[in-house]
Amino acid sequence: MIDSTTAIQMVNKKLIVPDQVTIPFITGDGIGPDVTDAMQSVVNAAIEKAYQFEKKIIWNEVFAGEKAFHQTGEWLPQETLNAFSEFVVGIKGPLTTPVGGGIRSLNVALRKDLDLYVCLRPVRYFQGINAPVTQPEKIDVTIFRENTEDVYSGIEFESDSQEAKMFLDWLQEQLPDSYHKIRFPQSVGLGIKPISKEGSQRLIQAAIEYAIRNKKPIVTLIHKGNIMKFTEGAFRMWGYDLAERDYKEFIYTARQFEHTRTHVGISEAKKEKEWALGNGMIWMNDVITDAAFQNLLLYPQDFSVIASSNLNGDYLSDALAAQVGGIGISPGANINYQTGIAVFEATHGTAPDIAGKNLANPSSLILSSVLMLQYLGWNDAAELITKALEKTINHGQLTQDLAQFVTGSSTLGTGEFAKAIINNF
Ligand code: NAI
Repeated sequence: MIDSTTAIQMVNKKLIVPDQVTIPFITGDGIGPDVTDAMQSVVNAAIEKAYQFEKKIIWNEVFAGEKAFHQTGEWLPQETLNAFSEFVVGIKGPLTTPVGGGIRSLNVALRKDLDLYVCLRPVRYFQGINAPVTQPEKIDVTIFRENTEDVYSGIEFESDSQEAKMFLDWLQEQLPDSYHKIRFPQSVGLGIKPISKEGSQRLIQAAIEYAIRNKKPIVTLIHKGNIMKFTEGAFRMWGYDLAERDYKEFIYTARQFEHTRTHVGISEAKKEKEWALGNGMIWMNDVITDAAFQNLLLYPQDFSVIASSNLNGDYLSDALAAQVGGIGISPGANINYQTGIAVFEATHGTAPDIAGKNLANPSSLILSSVLMLQYLGWNDAAELITKALEKTINHGQLTQDLAQFVTGSSTLGTGEFAKAIINNF
């Protein structure tokens, strides 16, 4: 039963957050319980410190993954999905992807069933971490990855299957030119890559509004539109269309620059751009995915907010997280900005090799809880945790995954690391 007085509500596209708020959480599998305990102790302490007893989270455990399967025979019970939609904001640890025919990845299922179309992945450097690049402090990038379309739609036909044959017969009959582009039609497996205008624009809109709210200077559309014109290329085009139609006062686009350059001349285009950016407008450009991987390594300072389709965003998020020293410290969230429903999450997996050993680094889930607190508008508590985590890491108090690369650091267990953060408030 829902205690409606503690449930978040979305009214006129605004979250109404009660001071005593119920947050459903999934502990997750493997190291899930270790990192969840650590996260909750840090969050509770931060809220108490920031608001004394005026605000409080009432943690409400819901089940998914192995724990749910053992209790109910289901990997992702409907009740869990209901709790996330009814309480609006929740948080989760990592979940095992069940291996076997017909079982979807639970993370993909959660995102799809709740229509959480934004996968938000902010990536920044924490001083004191051993990063593989020479100037990791230049990286401060927030990725908006589309979460519901693209090759993740799950429409795939196995080679030699009845479905593949039906599809190939239809293609041969109706679209013979396309059929002849398939190199080995006898043994081909097929997948479908749906990318829509609505799906792209709601994602890009979220990125733009984030950039405006947080005074970010650049929004970059990352795509492989040179090869996939009507999916990835359309993503780019719809992004520019949206920015130029609905955000004229806020954004100057590379497409506008190009238009002025070809029709009026380069010096006019430069003047126009200078004027726009000088007056605080955001620069929107686009970069092809392969170049983006290079440029994020070579010139990370040229990136600020990224909007990308699903597969590109998946690759980019982990590559960028690695650049600042690892996925163990990189937070994530899956959000539908229209319904307000948001599930914050650790971005790493269940790490079965270290589960239950007090070795896991809880930073990813703790930083996800920071995103959650910011989303709730509880910024003082969010700031306390961020600053304390920065201090803890900078003092060389690290979990073993990071400590092994930092000479002179001390190695803390998961629980001790959480205590160190609280002591550093
Ligand atoms: P993984 O992220 O669980 O582990 C990769 C390596 O990183 C391991 O050596 C592990 O010990 C280490 N590691 C991961 N998180 C850590 C942390 N917080 N602190 C210290 N070390 C950490 O990836 P793997 O092994 O590919 O996947 C294991 C399971 O997790 C699979 O069932 C997979 O499907 C699932 N998974 C779930 C995700 C989610 O729920 N969001 C994301 C990725 C994988």
